Amino acid sequence: MAYEGGEAIFIDTELDSWNMSPEALEKAFALYPDVRLIVLAHLYGTPGKCDEIRAIADRHGALIVEDAAESFGASYKGVQTGMFGDYSIISFNGNKIITGSSGGMFLTDSREDAHRVRKWSTQSRENAAWYQHEELGYNYRMSNIIAGVVRGQLPYLEDHIAQKKAIYEQYREGFRGLPVRMNPIPADTEPNYWLSCLLVDESAMCRQVRGDSNAIYVTEPGKSCPTEILGALMAFNAEGRPVWKPMHMQPIYRNHLFITTQGIARGRTNAYIDEGTAVDNGKWLFKHGLCLPSDNKMTAAQVALVIEIVKRCFR
Ligand SMILES: Cc1ncc(COP(=O)(O)O)c(C=O)c1O
Repeated sequence: MAYEGGEAIFIDTELDSWNMSPEALEKAFALYPDVRLIVLAHLYGTPGKCDEIRAIADRHGALIVEDAAESFGASYKGVQTGMFGDYSIISFNGNKIITGSSGGMFLTDSREDAHRVRKWSTQSRENAAWYQHEELGYNYRMSNIIAGVVRGQLPYLEDHIAQKKAIYEQYREGFRGLPVRMNPIPADTEPNYWLSCLLVDESAMCRQVRGDSNAIYVTEPGKSCPTEILGALMAFNAEGRPVWKPMHMQPIYRNHLFITTQGIARGRTNAYIDEGTAVDNGKWLFKHGLCLPSDNKMTAAQVALVIEIVKRCFR
């Protein structure tokens, strides 16, 4: 959007799917009825509320670009993500459930648009024997080597999802009794379980302060926080990450509008109160959440070790 000179208005997330809040989106259209494009991402492999967002888009004559980069193979009401946008994308970046090390897919039902995008991605070469250029193009085409790697992996998508699901379920069982929750699985969705994430309950958070590129915390008996847990994992050479930092909190977009269920806010709000009454759910999730090691090659013993490390953080 920014490359094309557009200005994004950021929409808050919701706690039951960790994806775009239809309620906040509706609020955004009430404030900005002329907007004609929605970018809907399905994060961590869990589909967002596709029907509700499609209904809002149709009511306002807007198109949807569906970012299914992380959710390849996940489905909403039995339909795979990547089928809901007017234009959709899937990523084959190195960390995705099917990977070619980089690259991805662009999906659309429009044959004409597919041809146009293929042309733009290939330096906008016109249909001529020589290099003929009549409009600006990009050098974004997928190499045949990456395509070969991706095609070799595609038959294993279901296996990868099953492995990721087993990891998620082992974590969920292992964390029973701790003041934490896993990333939610909303009704009507079958995620691809790409990343298992953890959320520390407000009541069990020790003090944690984050700057732009570092974080500190104060240990407390019976409490922990993402910074402490990530440090403990790192000591065992296990990689975790905070959950994605919301776009409206990114310095580059700090002056952009950000719409919550309660209306308009500028980026970098200090305004969240508590779960449930949060006016900035994205910020709340960022403070309390972390991504756990989730590689599909992890063994049950390795997952058990991660569970034990997390448990010790709360002692
Ligand atoms: C939600 C989301 N959108 C877009 C991208 C970008 O995809 P790519 O790296 O294939 O350009 C990623 C990850 O890489 C992602 O997780």
